[in-house]
Amino acid sequence: MVFNSISDKLIPIQIKGVGKVGCAVLKNLNKNEFKVTEASDSKSTISDPTGLNISEILNIKEHEKKNLNVYISSNNFYDFLDTANRPNIIIDSQETKLLNSHNNYNFYEKILRENNKVIFSARDTLFYGIDILLTEYSKNIGINAALNGIGRYLQSNLELLRNKCLSFSANCHPVSTFLIELIEKGESLENAINFGKEKRIFEYSIEDELIAKNAFISINIAANAIFGYKYDSSIFLQNLKEIDPDLIRYRKAKGKTTRLICSAQAEGAIHLSYLEIEEHSPLYCSSDCVSYSFNLGREKTHVVRGNGVGPLQTALAIFEDLNYLKNI
Ligand SMILES: NC(=O)c1ccc[n+]([C@@H]2O[C@H](COP(=O)([O-])OP(=O)(O)OC[C@H]3O[C@@H](n4cnc5c(N)ncnc54)[C@H](OP(=O)(O)O)[C@@H]3O)[C@@H](O)[C@H]2O)c1
Repeated sequence: MVFNSISDKLIPIQIKGVGKVGCAVLKNLNKNEFKVTEASDSKSTISDPTGLNISEILNIKEHEKKNLNVYISSNNFYDFLDTANRPNIIIDSQETKLLNSHNNYNFYEKILRENNKVIFSARDTLFYGIDILLTEYSKNIGINAALNGIGRYLQSNLELLRNKCLSFSANCHPVSTFLIELIEKGESLENAINFGKEKRIFEYSIEDELIAKNAFISINIAANAIFGYKYDSSIFLQNLKEIDPDLIRYRKAKGKTTRLICSAQAEGAIHLSYLEIEEHSPLYCSSDCVSYSFNLGREKTHVVRGNGVGPLQTALAIFEDLNYLKNI
């Protein structure tokens, strides 16, 4: 009884996807304020309105590396959609699969229509329809983690950006920054990739990482949010394999560096390419963060850094959204 009355005061959260980011959220969640009432992985959903046993979930996913269907503290399994009528905060930290964009968009749009709140670290739903979600449900969504920690800036300044922003550029692919920094130090691309595998930094196949698929997704999400245009599948994606390692080292030797720079113009053009940049450029940053520079006209620029790279920092970016949304 005492347990239930405490539990009733906690804010319920549902986590869709308990992989690296989802587990980092569970580990760092303030248990005096929140309870996790549902959690799901690719095979099952577990639920307990009084709060799931977080240690057991972490043990299953991180140590036993099994699916949630072996969870025993609760036997109450049901479809995620069944909960859509209850106001709730849902964290989407499942794998980003662009092929699911449309279905996931419909799924979350229904949840939002029913007055729930959704915090996205996965990017597929946003890739499909961030412009509409921000227009219709801006107070009920969080996009901070999906944009590596700059999403809260984008949401807070959306009106200004939609009215004034002429173009923006971003260094938003920490994976290629990581590889380039190693090449600059004399490693081959192959060795750099092997270091990356050891550090488990790749979210996609190596081929997709070399063409910066994640950056392509992020820049499209930001451009769609601000300028309203949908992605253009004909965008040319440069492959890091095609950049001469000696050119990367030459730029470094003369005090400059190479970064994958993405740019988007208000009138609808998106470009991604590995460019030489100055080390004091606003777009310069290491592989532990991303940097965006928004051109607001009349020589006014906003430069924003995001630290939401890697599971822990992504979880912290989710908590920024959580702290904002819980009070609304
Ligand atoms: N890691 C980062 O630095 C970072 C930064 C920003 C954004 N993100 C985004 O955050 C998301 C999570 O990243 P991650 O590194 O945690 O990935 P991850 O380790 O691959 O975890 C993905 C999780 O999603 C689950 N899943 C897959 N399909 C599902 C479904 N249909 N329903 C429910 N759960 C499902 C997987 O289940 P199983 O455990 O059964 O496989 C797994 O638990 C990704 O979308 C990623 O793009 C990541």
